[in-house]
Amino acid sequence: MFDFSTVIDRHGTDSYKWDAADREVGNTACIQMGCADMDFKCPPEILDTLRQVLDHGVLGYATLTSEYQKGIVSWYQERHQVTLNPDWIVYVPRIVVACSVMVNFFTAPGDKVILNAPFYPPLNDVTLSSHREIIEPPLVERDGRYVMDLEALEKLVDAKTKMMILVSPQNPTTRIWTREELKAVADFCVKHDLLLFVDEIHADFARAGHKFISMADIKGPIQDRLVIVNAPAKTFNVMGCAMSYLIIPNDDLRARMLKALDAAGETDANVFGNAVMKVAYQKCAYYIDEVNKVIDANEDYLRTELPKIFPEVVIKPREGTYLLWVDFRNVFKDEAEMMDFFVNKAKVCIHPGTHFGSHFAGFARINMGCPMATLQEVIKRLTAARAQA
Ligand SMILES: Cc1ncc(COP(=O)(O)O)c(C=O)c1O
Repeated sequence: MFDFSTVIDRHGTDSYKWDAADREVGNTACIQMGCADMDFKCPPEILDTLRQVLDHGVLGYATLTSEYQKGIVSWYQERHQVTLNPDWIVYVPRIVVACSVMVNFFTAPGDKVILNAPFYPPLNDVTLSSHREIIEPPLVERDGRYVMDLEALEKLVDAKTKMMILVSPQNPTTRIWTREELKAVADFCVKHDLLLFVDEIHADFARAGHKFISMADIKGPIQDRLVIVNAPAKTFNVMGCAMSYLIIPNDDLRARMLKALDAAGETDANVFGNAVMKVAYQKCAYYIDEVNKVIDANEDYLRTELPKIFPEVVIKPREGTYLLWVDFRNVFKDEAEMMDFFVNKAKVCIHPGTHFGSHFAGFARINMGCPMATLQEVIKRLTAARAQA
């Protein structure tokens, strides 16, 4: 059993989750539960291949490892029961880069791009920074579950709408879309002549009883307008190694994407990403199996403890990811009061709902990718701060 219980101090390691967030709130006393990486070491097999790179000592330009396509194809087959053709796979360093390239080279300024809210902010930001308009239909709650309202979306789409971004599984609501939902999105994109960019970075995280389905498994004409992006980054907690991939079944679309990546200067792999790819998908499946159990236990703990502190809290059902989407609107007067309580009084940093779209003030996203002991300390701090409120 891998050690998921030791608390590792990440302060002073130039960690985005800890050091950048500390700077933002102006102190180092907070427990950081915001940025979506996990406070666990990555699998020892990956550390070993990284060590081999360091021991060799020459950190020159790299060419993509021959294990790259092989690992991705076997992972999708074994993990998600989807058969990929290795030729469909294209290297990209990062997911947000891929989204930016797709928006900039496949749509024109003034065009519209669909992205459901609440959304992962950088996907929204790169689209807006590229002078495209975002259509952000909020997900709606039906029977306690967030769903896409494609009927409402139908009324917002026009000739300027060129592309849809789907995050699958969804961040921050944690939804794992069903086959029927994916098929409905596929049909919608075909009907409206839209390109579909599907971000599957959270594919490998699932609450027990839930099963991820890849858009690559939705057969039919959608495959000709589909760009899937994924990475080993979240699965093995190697976000800092900048190693991702695209899956593009259609030959013409893939050729256009390769040209676009060329034009953006994005063609080289790096030595550290290569080291990850040599072993992650071939040797480390046990790691994500264990992570999923740890996250389920963390969720169970928070579901028990948070309502003892905040009886009015509404914790949304979790299907995938290592995130918890929580409605504090009945607990605090407004989001400012919520953030003051968490950051200044309890010294616990979370991401507020408005981070994910203007409709979601008073919600919070809590990152549970940490040892149980960290969560216990969070609960202790929240309890103490609440007692003083
Ligand atoms: C949905 C989603 N996409 C992409 C990313 C980040 O991808 P990258 O760092 O490769 O751009 C994240 C990270 O939190 C995410 O949640």
